Amino acid sequence: MKILIVYDSVSPRKVTAKVAETISDSLKEKRIEADSFFVKDIDKSTIKNYDCLLAGAPTMAFRASTGIIKFLNSLPKEDFSGKPAAAFSTQVRSRFSGSAAKGIEGKLKGLGFKLITAPLIVYVEGKGNEWRLRDGELDKAKNWAQLIAQTLSK
Ligand SMILES: Cc1cc2nc3c(=O)[nH]c(=O)nc-3n(C[C@H](O)[C@H](O)[C@H](O)COP(=O)(O)O)c2cc1C
Repeated sequence: MKILIVYDSVSPRKVTAKVAETISDSLKEKRIEADSFFVKDIDKSTIKNYDCLLAGAPTMAFRASTGIIKFLNSLPKEDFSGKPAAAFSTQVRSRFSGSAAKGIEGKLKGLGFKLITAPLIVYVEGKGNEWRLRDGELDKAKNWAQLIAQTLSK
């Protein structure tokens, strides 16, 4: 079982990158092979070698950042039919925030991936360029990764 994590991260604090690394470390603790790539660094031809894709991004202007959407739009549909996948997002805790995860899930489904769990929503706080994780949010990311490990090992 090999899991690929692809994330975008825009602000200087690289909050979504931290979430991706936490997910990756947590999967490795469960002895699952996991590789994590910034969206602009992934070699797309390698994606089909993975058994599962976890895609995440910051929420910007109520939707997923353009980096992750461009990436998902550029994938060939035929390679991924029925493969497990899940989405994660960082966002403000507000009912008006929108969610990157929703858009990512839509794109994953359109590509033929099978969503294996509810998305991970990680809450941030701050403004301008100064965004940080709210307390306890990385624990949520760890638990989500462990749930994925369990689901895939069934
Ligand atoms: C231009 C801009 C627009 C944003 N729009 C939203 C938004 O619509 N909803 C939301 O929840 N957060 C919004 N945010 C906060 C981002 O979600 C936050 O910057 C992000 O989680 C930080 O992750 P990163 O460090 O990986 O980029 C916005 C941030 C910026 C800079």
